[in-house]
Amino acid sequence: MVTNIPFVVFDSPEAACRQVASEIAQLIRERSSRGRQTVLGLATGSTPLPLYKELVRLHQEEGLSFKNVTSFNLDEYLGLNRNHPESYWTFMHRNLFDHVDILPENIQIPSGELADDQIETHCAEYEARIRKAGGIDFQILGIGRTGHIGFNEPGTPIEAKTQKIHLDELTRRDAAPSFGGIENVPTEAITMGCGTILKARRIALLAWGSKKASIVREAIEGVITDQVSASFLQTHPAATFFLDREAAADLHGVARRAS
Ligand code: GLP
Repeated sequence: MVTNIPFVVFDSPEAACRQVASEIAQLIRERSSRGRQTVLGLATGSTPLPLYKELVRLHQEEGLSFKNVTSFNLDEYLGLNRNHPESYWTFMHRNLFDHVDILPENIQIPSGELADDQIETHCAEYEARIRKAGGIDFQILGIGRTGHIGFNEPGTPIEAKTQKIHLDELTRRDAAPSFGGIENVPTEAITMGCGTILKARRIALLAWGSKKASIVREAIEGVITDQVSASFLQTHPAATFFLDREAAADLHGVARRAS
């Protein structure tokens, strides 16, 4: 069976992340050698942690510089101060930015500290900043159990731009342990839209573990539907899923060889 999105299966998340990090490093080095910035779209959650670890290692041990990198994060919880331990601002600094030489002025993360009347302008400005940077060269994605990419919950249209969304109950339940209870999980977030994500020139979606197996299958082999925003990646010319064996367990199609 020909699958709708190419996928590669690895023995471990670490092995998958070595390959993704090496692709990113090659892109950064190649563009830097021509004096160009590389624009990365970055994700949060537990999934990309081994990727960030490997990128930090490449910086510390193999001289990979992030001085010519501009980054745009996918999303942020609304109502959280950036210094909140669970904000994505804190997450990104703790796991990547504090350990590499990216310039602080090149880091973009949607703000979670907005009054209602500031949200629309903030989202429009975020879109404009991505455009001004030349668009996203390489977008990293995780996948939520609702099928969301970024925080594009079921019902978000394919052309959506950066906007405020309401978090699905399942998403909030999944986040509850790190917030010390569902009552502490924000109900809203700002997220890049599906349309924003689909404009990236290259997309790598990462997923590990058996809990992701059924939604990974729906995204890759199911119908394209706004009920599973990751299924929109079937329309993208250069999206690949990087999976471990557990996350790939429900797929019928044949994986590309991991090389
Ligand atoms: C959150 C993030 C997503 C992420 C998802 C999965 O909802 N906004 O970007 O993909 O969680 O989380 P995890 O990687 O911890 O499974």
